[in-house]
Amino acid sequence: MSKEIAEILISEEELKEICARLGKQISEDYKDKKLFLVSVLKGAVVFMADIMRNITCPCEIDFMSVSSYSGTKTTGVVKIKKDLDINPEGCDILLVEDILDSGVTLSYLKQMLLQRNARSIKVCTLLDKPENRQADIAADYVGKVVPDEFVVGYGLDYNEKYRNLPFVGILSPEVYGGKD
Ligand code: IMP
Ligand code: MG
Repeated sequence: MSKEIAEILISEEELKEICARLGKQISEDYKDKKLFLVSVLKGAVVFMADIMRNITCPCEIDFMSVSSYSGTKTTGVVKIKKDLDINPEGCDILLVEDILDSGVTLSYLKQMLLQRNARSIKVCTLLDKPENRQADIAADYVGKVVPDEFVVGYGLDYNEKYRNLPFVGILSPEVYGGKD
């Protein structure tokens, strides 16, 4: 393992188990609904690809791109860089996220999508970092609760690097100059 990764937090095997567990639960909960999976680029793309193949009920998918981060620090300002292609009116949206940290991004997206007359909006996040929460938001489906460390891999990046790692690891503080 590279010395830039301090520790493997979630192995490939555990990630598979998480996707199987959440996919089963979502398939049961949404079997009579109009499931619309909305993933937030780019961090959630690997999780989205895995979770959708564990969902057995019919669904549509789409992607949004927003930005709120620079390095390891949130800017607190959410910008929409790519909006939905599909109109979410009347759909049961499930927002698929890589990590719920301050919650600023997701609470903004939830409010914005509610105004577009979706029938329901819930949140599925691979990782939940509750210690750092600033917005009043909780996820409905959580893969794993993680400590307040900067994590990378399985889609998550540090300045666009490490997304291709097949596991989730803690980034060595030396890489970004320590925690703020
Ligand atoms: P929030 O708005 O603070 O909840 O964070 C939203 C986004 O910040 C996430 O979807 C991630 O893309 C990014 N983020 C937050 N924490 C981490 C981390 O530990 N590693 C990599 N990206 C992170
Ligand atoms: Mg993200």
